[in-house]
Amino acid sequence: MEDLKNILAEEKNGVLFLTINRQDKMNALNFATLEELREIFDEVVDNKAIKAVILTGAGEKAFIAGADIKEISELNEVNARKFAEHGQEIFSMIENCHKPVIAVTNGYTLGGGCELAMACHIRIASANAKFGQPEVNLGIIPGYGGTQRLTILVGRGKANELMMTGDMIGAEEARELGLVNHVLPTKEDAMAKAQEIVEKIMSKAPLAIGMVVDCVNAAYLADENGFQTEANSFARCVKSGDYKEGTSAFLEKRKPVFKGE
Ligand code: COA
Repeated sequence: MEDLKNILAEEKNGVLFLTINRQDKMNALNFATLEELREIFDEVVDNKAIKAVILTGAGEKAFIAGADIKEISELNEVNARKFAEHGQEIFSMIENCHKPVIAVTNGYTLGGGCELAMACHIRIASANAKFGQPEVNLGIIPGYGGTQRLTILVGRGKANELMMTGDMIGAEEARELGLVNHVLPTKEDAMAKAQEIVEKIMSKAPLAIGMVVDCVNAAYLADENGFQTEANSFARCVKSGDYKEGTSAFLEKRKPVFKGE
């Protein structure tokens, strides 16, 4: 993670703070930034010192105003499929990460930016956040999983409306629709809320948190029986030291000390 050019990464007390940093382009996601995300999430999976991720955009104007339209304008039929699959693959890595990933969105959260936020486990917005999938204005559709994740989060009717009109909605409406979990007055407040939530999650059994991720994601996979995934994951938890620690601590009336083993 030493040669990052488009993303600021700082680890503090087990939380990796990521800031997409292309402010002159409204933090638009170009190929290089997506590759940096891949490199970072490879490290997040492997590095035991990283226990959670909070992802935001630099500045006050935008979380991310979409995939980079300059790059989109140069696509052809052959590489367009690869373009979409490339983004989908990296966003799936994030969605399947066993450590909590929280998006803190401020300002424009559009196109690929909304898709990236939706791939995170939890979304927290500042009051000035604006969400939308405006791809139809460019003659395209969302290609980084947005057609699927938006439908899952807000339902078919609203997903169709948002993607067909390209309209932007405000943070409160996004919360009412289930697109974001919490809305806070400012970006600083939203960051503080994200930190409060990750600290709470980090005090729980890490293996169990990873199993929650697998089971929640299984609910949306047509080729997977989520109930079976749940039963298998439940059994995996019971094999762990953290299960022994959690149950013993309850019976001994003390706080558990989880080791993630
Ligand atoms: N890709 C590439 N560059 C982008 C971008 C994107 N998705 N979104 C914004 N930018 C660039 C602009 O081209 C401009 O660059 P320039 O100063 O070199 O000309 C800079 O960021 C500032 O954007 P600007 O449009 O001047 O700001 P604004 O405040 O007037 O409008 C938006 C902000 C977000 C409403 C507008 O930039 C916009 O509509 N962006 C595209 C949103 C979109 O369609 N996203 C989906 C892409 S698939």
